[in-house]
Parts: sequence; structure tokens; C-alpha cells
Amino acid sequence: MLKKKIEDAFNEQLNAELYSSYLYLAMAAYFEAQNFKGMANWMRVQTAEEYAHMMKFFNYIMERGGRVALKQVDEPQFEWDSPAAAFRSAHEHECKVTGLINGLMDLALSEKDHAASAFLQWFVTEQVEEEATVLDITELLERAGDQAGVLFMLDRELGQRPAASGADAGA
Ligand code: FEO
Repeated sequence: MLKKKIEDAFNEQLNAELYSSYLYLAMAAYFEAQNFKGMANWMRVQTAEEYAHMMKFFNYIMERGGRVALKQVDEPQFEWDSPAAAFRSAHEHECKVTGLINGLMDLALSEKDHAASAFLQWFVTEQVEEEATVLDITELLERAGDQAGVLFMLDRELGQRPAASGADAGA
């Protein structure tokens, strides 16, 4: 059985993961509007990954006998100044999520909930990968600046990102 404190914190994180999915969906729409189809594809895949993260919390809360409580999801940003600015804000967002996951891990440890901390370990590792990937893309885009040819090539490359597999998608 989940302690109430952990149940509440996990429900908050479920909401944060759903917001992440929503934010990247807003970025996908922005890139579509800018005709950067490859970057839009990358964000569509990211949206699905974040939805899968949300479902991991959804399933785990129930598996431990807790109660899922869905809250309102904040409205994401609508517009960005450039592709680089959008990815820069995605990176800032991931750093924020890392802080939230670390806070949950601190809580699980202080409450001596070893099962919850084992569950959270997957997210600790995932955040390292997510931060690094988004930062790499951000830096490439910032270096590209307004060079249309380079942006075109990067867009094509980001369009190659495959859809998440069943396991990654939390299926
Ligand atoms: Fe679910 Fe990108 O953190």
C-alpha cells in the first residue's frame, strides 16, 4: 500500500508528465507551422514518450493499491522565436523534470519506501539521457543559426527519429 504522502507526490508527477507530453505536442504544432516537418516528427515521438511516462505513474499508483487523481493540465506555450529557442526551452523543461524526479527519490528514501525508489530509478536514468539528447540538438541548432542549408539537414535528420517501441511507450 502506498503512503498518502507518496501517493500525492506520484499523482503530482503524473500531472507533470502529462504536461510534458502536452508541451511537446505544442512544439510539434509550432514546427509544423514553420514547415520543419522533421523537428515536428521528433516532437511527436517525444510527446508519445512523455505520455508513456505518465502511464508508468498511472499503472504504478494502482499496482501499489493507491488511487489515481487526475488534475488540470496547464496550457503550454504557443510560440517560440526559433527552432533553437524551442529546443532550448525543452532542455530547460527536462532539467526541471529531473529536479522533480530527484525530489520524489528523496521522498521515497526518507519514507523508506524501497519499492518506490526502485521504480523511480528508471526515471533517474531516463532523465540523464533526455537532458543529454535535447542539449545536443539545442547546441547544433544554436550553432546553425539562420543558415537555411544546415537547418534543412538537421530537420531531415530529426525526421528519422523512429516512433517509440512498445516497451518505451509503456505498452
Ligand atoms: Fe518524462 Fe522528459 O521527462
